[in-house]
Amino acid sequence: MSRETWTAFDAYIEDRLVGRDAGLEAALADSAAAGLAPIAVSPAYGKLLHILALSIGAKRIVEVGTLGGYSTIWLARALPAGGKLTTLEIDPPTAKVARANIDRAGVGGKVEIIVGPALQSLQKLEGPFDLAFIDANKNQNPEYFTECLARMRSGGLIIVDNVVRDGRVLNAASEDPDIKGVRRLFDLMGHEPQVTVTAIQTVGVKGYDGLAIARVN
Ligand SMILES: C[S@@+](CC[C@H](N)C(=O)[O-])C[C@H]1O[C@@H](n2cnc3c(N)ncnc32)[C@H](O)[C@@H]1O
Repeated sequence: MSRETWTAFDAYIEDRLVGRDAGLEAALADSAAAGLAPIAVSPAYGKLLHILALSIGAKRIVEVGTLGGYSTIWLARALPAGGKLTTLEIDPPTAKVARANIDRAGVGGKVEIIVGPALQSLQKLEGPFDLAFIDANKNQNPEYFTECLARMRSGGLIIVDNVVRDGRVLNAASEDPDIKGVRRLFDLMGHEPQVTVTAIQTVGVKGYDGLAIARVN
């Protein structure tokens, strides 16, 4: 099974199940035009985030790692009137692109972007949050998880992206800070009595990777 097949199947899922959304498509186009890396979640993954947020009736969401706001828009679209999403981005020009994308998608009134190092921003945030999506620099994943967990309501979900990374996370001898960060995260989550947690491997247009989902007990 090749990446070509995974990509074609993601297109099939998008065509049959995900549907089209002008705001989301424009966000991807303008992110690319602004030179942002093509590392947003896939459309199918974005819709999964949307469904998860809907399923738990999320009213307050925190996102670590905004990029052009693609996953932000998917999550914000699941919020009810009065709901709020806070997204954290370190890079000011990137946050500017995201702001424009989010506003054009019609969810600007629900989304706050905090610019700066996410850990410091997180430490200043007040919970409780219903859902946290962690998708920034992987070397700090454990710290992000800990800070999110301290601000979650019982029954809330913490979702962490990119926890497989082509299987490289298996390499205990890796000196790559991102791999080390994901491995520390697995150890932390696996020993954390406050959550019920698993991880799922995924293939698709973004290659071979995976996500972890922790439900706060
Ligand atoms: C994978 S991208 C986020 C993708 C986005 N969640 C999506 O799917 O549309 C990671 C983002 O995290 C940001 N980032 C990296 N290190 C960060 C840090 N220490 N604090 C806050 N943001 C950071 C990067 O600038 C980048 O925009």
